Amino acid sequence: MNLFNVYPLFNINPVKAQGSFLWNEKGEKYLDFYGGHAVISIGHNHPYYQSKLKDQLEKISFYSNSVQNNLQIELAQKLGEISGYEEYNLFLCNSGAEANENAIKLASFHNGKSKVLYFSGSFHGRTSAAVSVTDNPKIVAPVNYSERFIKLEWNDLKQLEEIFKTQGNDISSVIIEGIQGVGGIMIPTAGFLFKIKELCEEYNAVLILDEVQSGYGRSGYFFAHQEFGIQPDIITTAKGMGNGFPIGGVLIHPKFEASNGLLGTTFGGNHLACAAAIAVLDVIKNENLIGNTLEMGGYIENEIKDFPHIRSIRRKGLMIGIELDRDCAEVRKSLLYDHFIFTGNSNDKAVLRILPALNIKKEETDIFINALKTVLEEI
Ligand SMILES: Cc1ncc(COP(=O)(O)O)c(C=O)c1O
Repeated sequence: MNLFNVYPLFNINPVKAQGSFLWNEKGEKYLDFYGGHAVISIGHNHPYYQSKLKDQLEKISFYSNSVQNNLQIELAQKLGEISGYEEYNLFLCNSGAEANENAIKLASFHNGKSKVLYFSGSFHGRTSAAVSVTDNPKIVAPVNYSERFIKLEWNDLKQLEEIFKTQGNDISSVIIEGIQGVGGIMIPTAGFLFKIKELCEEYNAVLILDEVQSGYGRSGYFFAHQEFGIQPDIITTAKGMGNGFPIGGVLIHPKFEASNGLLGTTFGGNHLACAAAIAVLDVIKNENLIGNTLEMGGYIENEIKDFPHIRSIRRKGLMIGIELDRDCAEVRKSLLYDHFIFTGNSNDKAVLRILPALNIKKEETDIFINALKTVLEEI
């Protein structure tokens, strides 16, 4: 059997990883400044994370959601405490798309309405409702398309007000990323978020904040929207939550009523996934990784801001978009093959997307900074 060929692959086969480095089978060492799509939050194979997972493997790896699982309770308590959302309830699933799928569904169960607003540049995942609110026609199959999902322009207050005025009574939810990642590190304005919140309240629509990429400390806040002091009705998480172990979460305001069978999953919140997610939260807290994120993010921006060919830098914490005056593909290729550094791209071809682990060290950022300087000066 062959693999279903949907991924354009770099010809690199990592076989070992530690901290912010990966090694291929020839022993060549790569610096990871992308975390495999924003997943590696506390560094590869963190010793505490490893020991928590190994301990859990020795005990029990899985049983279904038909029995008590105290690890889920521990995870919910720790996530509530570190995020400040102690009064919210947690539903656990396996991925970012699944978290958004459940959020959209829950909103519709709650208010009985069926239209969903989303924004240009968005990426919310590839399952049914999640892909319907993703701004990329190439990945939306005819079966996913529906007029119930309405795209609005990013940061356009006028259009937002207009749609609520005309269709507000049918709008079930509004879904927005804390910071758009795949869209090219696009940061919403405070005024835009305030207006969405205000209109959702006025029309009994649910505000869903997708923090799958921008959450878990990456922005310098636990969730990116917390910079603006707004409180969404539902928050979704995944990626950095398990540092590579698949897990997603839906944080749900207490006004939403749970009932048996309303949501469900076979694998979500299993013992191993919870052990991984608890380890991540312990490390973020005990090693003050949000403090490091703020410091290293500022350092990187300051060091690179005057490099040639950089048009602008969009950044919060260690979520960094470097907009070049050209397509970033060649720069990215040179960083990878000449300098052994992983970086990311985005739907905006000019934007190099930088997402290092939150415990990146200064000397590791210097490797990236020096390599980027060399590559940009050689253009
Ligand atoms: C903001 C956002 N939401 C949702 C997703 C989907 O997550 P997953 O690939 O885990 O389904 C992604 C993935 O890139 C994302 O960036």
